[in-house]
Amino acid sequence: MQNRVTVTSLYKMKKEGKKITELTAYDYPFASMVDAAGIDIILVGDSLGMAVQGRENTLAVTMDEMLYHTSMVSRACSYSMVIGDMPFMSYQSSIEKAVDNAGRFLKEAGASAVKLEGGAAVCEVISAMTKASIPVQAHIGLTPQSVHQMGGFKVQRDEDRLMADALKVQEAGAFSVVLEGIPSAIAAKITKALDIPTIGIGAGAECDGQVLVIHDMLGITNRTVPKFVKKFADINLVAQQGLKQYIDEVRAGIFPSKDYEYK
Ligand code: KIV
Repeated sequence: MQNRVTVTSLYKMKKEGKKITELTAYDYPFASMVDAAGIDIILVGDSLGMAVQGRENTLAVTMDEMLYHTSMVSRACSYSMVIGDMPFMSYQSSIEKAVDNAGRFLKEAGASAVKLEGGAAVCEVISAMTKASIPVQAHIGLTPQSVHQMGGFKVQRDEDRLMADALKVQEAGAFSVVLEGIPSAIAAKITKALDIPTIGIGAGAECDGQVLVIHDMLGITNRTVPKFVKKFADINLVAQQGLKQYIDEVRAGIFPSKDYEYK
């Protein structure tokens, strides 16, 4: 059994040029598979609003829902670091509320860090959380909680702003930063400029690590996925085959056969 991933081991990986793997998971069975596979970080993302709850965006996800899902994931993990994602309006209205909510992920749900979206605008919050010994993964570029302000889920191309945001979240104390939906050349420059690891999603191969939504990369649901998603398996297809076979066998009286009966 490998030692559990920590903030310190992630810094070491960046220094040694070892790529960091991060995936989302939202419940015990999926987190067990991801942890057993040796993924470094499990993010209990507010993307569960779309992947699990069937919503159009992440805005309606609540703190209670996030804590519920994060507890299930934490119980499954012995290797992966578990990060709880701060939902919309759990950290925007006041620093005190933000720190209290972040603390709940560690105290009540077994996470060892939190993630939140935003650059310069959330630096005071990142700094307050870090001072309270709550490790923070920042998230800049295409930030889904700002979908209405961005006018949709759009690639972000303002290099000066992205670089400034990345440097500011690092200065505020973030231990890593997710770069979402930005051109790969900009992500490469940011990765070189920072001491903390960058984790890309739709940001090219030069980031220090990669993150994807598990339901997208394993083909669990049939929803249309962004260009940057590679389907590493087609679970939906395999499940449909099994489900159809079950229907056929029940209707034909093949299942349950004697093997599945009590005597
Ligand atoms: O909510 C989420 O899953 C995320 C990742 C896709 C980075 O923010």
